[in-house]
Amino acid sequence: MKLKISQCKKSEYPFIADIEKNLFDSPLSINDLETMNSQKSFKTWKIHGDYLIGYICYFHVKDEVEIIKLGIMKSHQGKNYGSYLIQKIKSLPIKKIFIEVSCLNKIAINFYIKNGFKKIGIRKNYYILKNNSRTDALRLSCEP
Ligand SMILES: CC(C)(COP(=O)(O)OP(=O)(O)OC[C@H]1O[C@@H](n2cnc3c(N)ncnc32)[C@H](O)[C@@H]1OP(=O)(O)O)[C@@H](O)C(=O)NCCC(=O)NCCS
Repeated sequence: MKLKISQCKKSEYPFIADIEKNLFDSPLSINDLETMNSQKSFKTWKIHGDYLIGYICYFHVKDEVEIIKLGIMKSHQGKNYGSYLIQKIKSLPIKKIFIEVSCLNKIAINFYIKNGFKKIGIRKNYYILKNNSRTDALRLSCEP
């Protein structure tokens, strides 16, 4: 399957929302995506062949990017698709990329470190888990 990265259309938000439900405890809904999309700085890229494999959504303001979500379908993880999406972001004319992940998400932390991100801080008790307990957020950044 020949892979491409291209900008996501609003009509594809339902596919993203479906993958989100499979990947995250607090998935983005179609409505969340549409609300963020009302801001000009909000962008979503998809990686796809005949069907959507993964996506990255982020805010791009001046020379900085804040990644909001990056997701690769479970069946397609570990095949570098996530890293391709990060490379796409790194090719933008920017100076810094930021991301926050749950401290419990060791795979994502490994992934961002492997892709050149450094740990820059912790937000205590930032995420609420399904059982209503809280966990810290790790903030990472990268200079492409
Ligand atoms: C995190 C995620 C985006 C990574 O995408 P991916 O395409 O699977 O990752 P890649 O194949 O590009 O992996 C690159 C590196 O990440 C790390 N990594 C990826 N999957 C891993 C796993 N299951 N266990 C440990 N490290 C892993 C490794 O360091 C890997 O490098 P290596 O293959 O040389 O060991 C993907 O696993 C995912 O969608 N997870 C669920 C959603 C999520 O947590 N998103 C991130 C927070 S927004």
